Amino acid sequence: MFDLVIHAKQVLTLQGSKGPKKGESTGELGVIDSGAIAINKGRIEAVGTIREIGDRAGRLIKWSGLAMPGFVDPHTHAVFSGSREDELKMKIEGRTYLEILRAGGGILRTVKATRKSSFEQLLEETRKRSDTMLIHGTTTAEMKSGYGLDFDTEMKMLEVIEKLDESHPMDIVPTFLGAHALPPEFKDADEYVDFLINDVMPEAGKIARFADIFCEKGVFDAEQSGRYLSAAKKHGMIPKIHADEIENLGGVRVGAELGAISAEHLVKTSDEEIELMAEKGMIADLLPGTPHMLLSNHYAPARKFIEKGVPVALATDLNPNCWTESMQMVINLASLRMKMSPEEAIVASTINAAHSIGMADEVGSLEPGKNADIILLDIPNYMHIPYHFGVNLVNTVIKKGEIVVKEGKICNQEAGV
Ligand code: NIG
Ligand code: FE
Repeated sequence: MFDLVIHAKQVLTLQGSKGPKKGESTGELGVIDSGAIAINKGRIEAVGTIREIGDRAGRLIKWSGLAMPGFVDPHTHAVFSGSREDELKMKIEGRTYLEILRAGGGILRTVKATRKSSFEQLLEETRKRSDTMLIHGTTTAEMKSGYGLDFDTEMKMLEVIEKLDESHPMDIVPTFLGAHALPPEFKDADEYVDFLINDVMPEAGKIARFADIFCEKGVFDAEQSGRYLSAAKKHGMIPKIHADEIENLGGVRVGAELGAISAEHLVKTSDEEIELMAEKGMIADLLPGTPHMLLSNHYAPARKFIEKGVPVALATDLNPNCWTESMQMVINLASLRMKMSPEEAIVASTINAAHSIGMADEVGSLEPGKNADIILLDIPNYMHIPYHFGVNLVNTVIKKGEIVVKEGKICNQEAGV
């Protein structure tokens, strides 16, 4: 007798490997037709065919579509105030991202708005986005600071993330991204990096699990990135790095030397650097929403990463420049624009994404002992995820065994189904 049993037309387990999936195993979904999942005390007890698992349960859900692990979104800037819809028009007219940034738009504009917000206001704006993420099937996410660039606001952002993790059904992992841009109070990036290391990291490291830096032309260079990330390690944070989004400044090498768990964006990464990532077991977090919203045709070379044995994860990059809460949208872009197969894109959005934020012991696949984070999609098979685009295919979201979204709407947990 189980607390809950789900029967589905198709179940994706994503089981099958200790570490992240790479090379040919990137496409292994663990498909079970007429599958069933048994849940006890919020955790997966067993997965198999309906015949194997049976129907002895406190509650039985018979689902006529697809059941799979909740999406994991491993790279977001979801904590911010305001919006920047007018910049879309500037981009359509041909202005580049770095031009908009230099003109006081982009990140710095969001910094101004986020500094002005009270803790409560920022929490509510972020909670709303978190609800949208959950409704679209994301059950675990990483969120970064980086729109404060001063002590108080960076800490306010991290505290918002901490508060949301406690109070929202999604599991949320905090990352310190103090080095996201040079704030107006500083003229010199080296001095700002020193300030972050000496004044902010000792406190930020008490909350953040990861530290990240925007290693990019006109932002922070490789030397500054190395200095920042090695200091972050001393404060107990695991390095991540925004590298090669627009120009290649050698960020991957810096990350590799410091044992970074992942490098992110990677549009301009060289073949040698891809090989280095494979050698080090670094995960490539690819964010196809970003070139899409930058009106660029340059996407990360996902096929090369997979062929050379680098584990690939996908993420939304949710931020005011690339505002989507939907991993379904990202899977569509990854398949169409980066030529990832639907199978590879789903692996990259679940188990590999979980590995890239150190959460794979708990989430990312349906295996005994892991959290019962399960989504039910209103589609006959997984191929519909990249194929049927622009709408929400997720009907029901189960987080730690509780139904938190039903018929596409957040539900009161007591009310249940
Ligand atoms: O990952 N690249 C740097 N940061 C974000 C964009 C942030 C913004 O434009 O507000 C990114 O794309
Ligand atoms: Fe980013």
